[in-house]
Amino acid sequence: MSVKIVETSMRDGHQSLMATRMTTKDILSIIPELDQAGFHALEVWGGATFDACLRFLDEDPWERLREIKKLAPNTKLQMLFRGQNILGYRHYPDDIVDKFVQKSIENGIDIIRIFDALNDVRNLKSAVDATKKYGGHCQIALSYTTSPVHTIDYYVKLAQEVEAMGADSLCIKDMAGILLPTDAYNLIKALKQNTKLPINLHGHATAGIMEATYMKAIEAGVDIIDTALSPLSGGTSQVATESFYHILKATPYDTHLDINLLKKAAEKLTVIKDAYLKNGILNPKALTSNPNILEYQVPGGMLSNLMSQLKEQNQMDDYEKVLKEVPIVRKDLGYPPLVTPISQMVGTQAVMNVMTRDPYKIVSKEVREYLHGLYGKAPAKVNALVLAKIIGDDEIITHRPADDLPPEFEDLKKKYEGFAKSDEDILSIALFGKVAISFLEKKYQEKPKPKQEVYAFSVTVGDGD
Ligand code: CO
Repeated sequence: MSVKIVETSMRDGHQSLMATRMTTKDILSIIPELDQAGFHALEVWGGATFDACLRFLDEDPWERLREIKKLAPNTKLQMLFRGQNILGYRHYPDDIVDKFVQKSIENGIDIIRIFDALNDVRNLKSAVDATKKYGGHCQIALSYTTSPVHTIDYYVKLAQEVEAMGADSLCIKDMAGILLPTDAYNLIKALKQNTKLPINLHGHATAGIMEATYMKAIEAGVDIIDTALSPLSGGTSQVATESFYHILKATPYDTHLDINLLKKAAEKLTVIKDAYLKNGILNPKALTSNPNILEYQVPGGMLSNLMSQLKEQNQMDDYEKVLKEVPIVRKDLGYPPLVTPISQMVGTQAVMNVMTRDPYKIVSKEVREYLHGLYGKAPAKVNALVLAKIIGDDEIITHRPADDLPPEFEDLKKKYEGFAKSDEDILSIALFGKVAISFLEKKYQEKPKPKQEVYAFSVTVGDGD
């Protein structure tokens, strides 16, 4: 059985190694080779790419997607979708979720990988229904973590639930890179025995164990693995695509990728990567294995965030203390998996607990909302003392959080009539408010006068701006 490969360098690769700062121009330069190389899919959109385009790169993420699609007629395009959080950090109303899925598919996405940080399936429902409605392939991802409640039985039960919801495939999403080889074997084996869904494993190389983990998962029957082209692989990113080509070549699991095209793409990507190393966007630290995360179970992206928060406060001496505080906060909050947006909440809380030397004296709005049930159901019981200290006897909601959110799309459309030029613009505003508005102001103000337009277009085509 040939193992299928999802190439992630153009989404997770640069998100994990260089804060998602790769430009559309750089991305487009290697898409033609990737498109011909025989991948199951190219992960190119979603996650932090959308936010980074608007906030840091002054690029339109929708235009990026359309340009990629033009250059990739042969391979499916895949995106990462945060359930009811879409590509943002809070819950959005159902009509925004529905419209976002519709427009993602219309602009070129084939496979939507949907996850919820808490694995609360109620938070997946809208996105799953919309993906099916608009004809996309719906892959549901389960956030992988370890805790007394996150057992193999827990994942099997969830997998059966998402199969019943209508998922077309299942992904085990190990964003921290903590899935050990033997655990992977047992987990994948159990999932294969208890569901019919094709299974995709998404892991990070952070701890230096992921090649071994993938191999055991392959032996257990995993159908698809996520890898990144070598220049953007390793460290906090995925394992290298070309390495798995060689590992699996001439075995029953042969990937049948075109190695010459991969080499060509990697050569180009190396030049691009070197430029990002030189200008400091890619920190070489992110490229080194860090087995310590197996102890603290902190995802790589979160580690670098914690470091920068502490540096800003001149508190780098407290780094070890904060790392030790993270598992404590996580336990207090009922063992949520550390993935966006929960990882940011838990990390910031750990920093505050250490800095104030009085745990939960200062609590972010997000943690407060989490405890009120506004992100969904915590996987395990929340520490009662912590709960009482933070929210007293406030009511905790037990229904689906988005049930309380009224529709927004039509109101936003009216409000920004004349300014927003498309439904896509409205969606950018719905997700990122001021950030999107100031991007669109620049975009439409800077639009050259008709006379210059022809010239400007001819030299910047494909530039995404
Ligand atoms: Co990832």
